[in-house]
Amino acid sequence: MNTFEAYGAIAHVYDQLNAEIDYNSWADFVESCFDRFLPRRPTLVLDLACGTGSMTEQLASRGYDMIGIDASADMLSRAYERCARFPGTLLLQQDMRSFELYGTVGAITCCLDSLNYLLREEDLLSCFRTSHNYLDPDGLFLFDMNTPYKFETVYGSNAYILEDELIFGKGEDDEERAAIYCGWQNSYHPESGICEFDLSLFEELPDGTYRRSDETQRERAYSMECVKRLLEQAGFFLLGVFADWNFSPVTNATERRYFCARAIKS
Ligand SMILES: C[S@@+](CC[C@H](N)C(=O)[O-])C[C@H]1O[C@@H](n2cnc3c(N)ncnc32)[C@H](O)[C@@H]1O
Repeated sequence: MNTFEAYGAIAHVYDQLNAEIDYNSWADFVESCFDRFLPRRPTLVLDLACGTGSMTEQLASRGYDMIGIDASADMLSRAYERCARFPGTLLLQQDMRSFELYGTVGAITCCLDSLNYLLREEDLLSCFRTSHNYLDPDGLFLFDMNTPYKFETVYGSNAYILEDELIFGKGEDDEERAAIYCGWQNSYHPESGICEFDLSLFEELPDGTYRRSDETQRERAYSMECVKRLLEQAGFFLLGVFADWNFSPVTNATERRYFCARAIKS
């Protein structure tokens, strides 16, 4: 099994680059799924590929006992800081294709296209099988994936620059700002469904010079049929696929699909 190495260069600015994502509303959606598809809300939840712990923290703050798993030590160290006020939270550096827990959980979340990082069908199946193994009977698996439509039309082979500011310090008086620029160059290969993202990060240092770090990430597009087939193979029943957090139906132009699956154990 190949190992996952990305996210070393950008972990420290990851939250800043994703600041517009409203995890509070996303967690509302997660709880709506619990209420819609479970007889009662779970007590223990696993946030798979938790990254810097945005969803882990949201759910911990709502009273769930949380476990976070991620392959990247750099991302996990941010999650550790973020979840420090919830000392019961367990953070583990493991691979989502073959992780191990002490027991089962009532639900698993896996947010922000983390499953697209698995580049082979056998990797995705392995993740589904391991997740099924660690879910209670009828437990929920909630995940989202970028659609082939998004890879073809939004990512494509486009390049863009994101300009932002890092803000240090706690109060207005001791606040310091540093510019960051993140350049993205995408190259999508329709025959394999794999998109490469070449990221270059330029961070302003206190002396006014810039530090450059580079990283390549890869995601794979999976068709709806493929995800359904692999879920079934792993023992899941697909309860629904939605286009947003309001349970809207998916269309041909949906860029992110939200899947809700139930672990069937007989
Ligand atoms: C786009 S980030 C999403 C992080 C987090 N779920 C969020 O909502 O911010 C994708 C995450 O998947 C993790 N990841 C990718 N491949 C992995 C693997 N094979 N096992 C565990 N984590 C993995 C990365 O380290 C990264 O933290």
